[in-house]
Amino acid sequence: MSKTQAIIDDIRPADRQAWQRLWDANNLGHKNEVVSNETWRRLLDPASPVKGLVARLDGQLAGLVHYIIHPVTGHIEPVAYMQDLFVDPAFRRKGIARTLVLHLAELGRRNKWVRLYWLAEAKNGEAQALYRHLGAKLDFSLYVLPLH
Ligand SMILES: CC(C)(COP(=O)(O)OP(=O)(O)OC[C@H]1O[C@@H](n2cnc3c(N)ncnc32)[C@H](O)[C@@H]1OP(=O)(O)O)[C@@H](O)C(=O)NCCC(=O)NCCS
Repeated sequence: MSKTQAIIDDIRPADRQAWQRLWDANNLGHKNEVVSNETWRRLLDPASPVKGLVARLDGQLAGLVHYIIHPVTGHIEPVAYMQDLFVDPAFRRKGIARTLVLHLAELGRRNKWVRLYWLAEAKNGEAQALYRHLGAKLDFSLYVLPLH
């Protein structure tokens, strides 16, 4: 059961400034204007697989989550990869992140996505505490080969 009064909503053009503030904070101060502009463009482009939701509370953007819908082998229906779940520090522990994830999961059920999945650093205690009750933690190793 959600304890937040936040409204989960689509991202709108008027959110640009507030989105940028949360996005910069999520990126821990690493700013790249070209990437930000293109990410924002994709988020607002209905044809792009890059999507987002925001949490609105007290007239402010309190949190955001991005997700990418993509096909997989083994299923006809797509899956969704969740990225950039972030809640403004002033609005934490109000159930906003949980509500964002549950809303995204419900959207997926309605649209027949096979699953929602995401990565979380093992040392990110807040994230691990949140996800413990939201999904099954699988015993896979992540391998990355940087290509440029
Ligand atoms: C992780 C994060 C998204 C959680 O957002 P939040 O809105 O504060 O989380 P919620 O209020 O929905 O928390 C839901 C549950 O998660 C757990 N949880 C969340 N933050 C916690 C914390 N700091 N300590 C312990 N448990 C925590 C609790 O079980 C909590 O339920 P409770 O408050 O009823 O005990 C937020 O801390 C954040 O933005 N962190 C920086 C970005 C980040 O790490 N994102 C995740 C990347 S994988």
